[in-house]
Amino acid sequence: MKRIIAPSILAADLSRLGEEVDQVLTAGADWIHVDVMDGQFVPPITFGAGTVAALRKRGNAFLDVHLMIEQPELQVGEFAKAGADLITVHVEACPHLHRVIQQIKSLNVKAGVALNPATPLSAIEPIIDDIDLLLIMTVNPGWGGQQYIPSSTEKIRLAATLLQARNSTAYLEVDGGITATTLPVAREAGANVFVAGSAIFGTADYGAAIRSLRE
Ligand code: DX5
Ligand code: ZN
Repeated sequence: MKRIIAPSILAADLSRLGEEVDQVLTAGADWIHVDVMDGQFVPPITFGAGTVAALRKRGNAFLDVHLMIEQPELQVGEFAKAGADLITVHVEACPHLHRVIQQIKSLNVKAGVALNPATPLSAIEPIIDDIDLLLIMTVNPGWGGQQYIPSSTEKIRLAATLLQARNSTAYLEVDGGITATTLPVAREAGANVFVAGSAIFGTADYGAAIRSLRE
């Protein structure tokens, strides 16, 4: 599968969000990754459905919405209405994970599930046939600019093996500390969607940054 590069707007200049998004798309980004944080599941508060609606109004980019929030079942309707293409929920925030996945899919949105670094892969085995994307967090969620956790690589490899064994066509996404150095490691282990915040928005030339992630 062709690698998908998904810049995370968390690292963008938020006072110029629309222009920043247009610029990374022109520079070759495939998806736009929107990190939604509620001040509960993780300490910071970031964007709501209004931001997704504003980005949707601006263009037709694929909006990859990562919900780092408690009780996501109360919010997925709003994010779907706002124009999200894919909504990812955290397994740690969902006692009724199977139900939330069905809820997202019933809204005609692709469904993703994310695992924190300390959550074992076995947590998603029962629902693996139901998901469109599996997100292996390669840092603890909450902040951009952290270092890739080395033990993630083995987890990505296990996840890729599991998806293959189940004949799943789900994307395998990684998020956190992805740079031109760590991306090849995650890719070799089987990841095919790469979220990058600081490695793109933290540079002066988005085109060069995205090209270096594709090499
Ligand atoms: C972390 C977020 C990430 C973050 C990645 O909680 O889910 O998407 O923006 O940032 P970098 O690429 O800077 O590690
Ligand atoms: Zn994210």
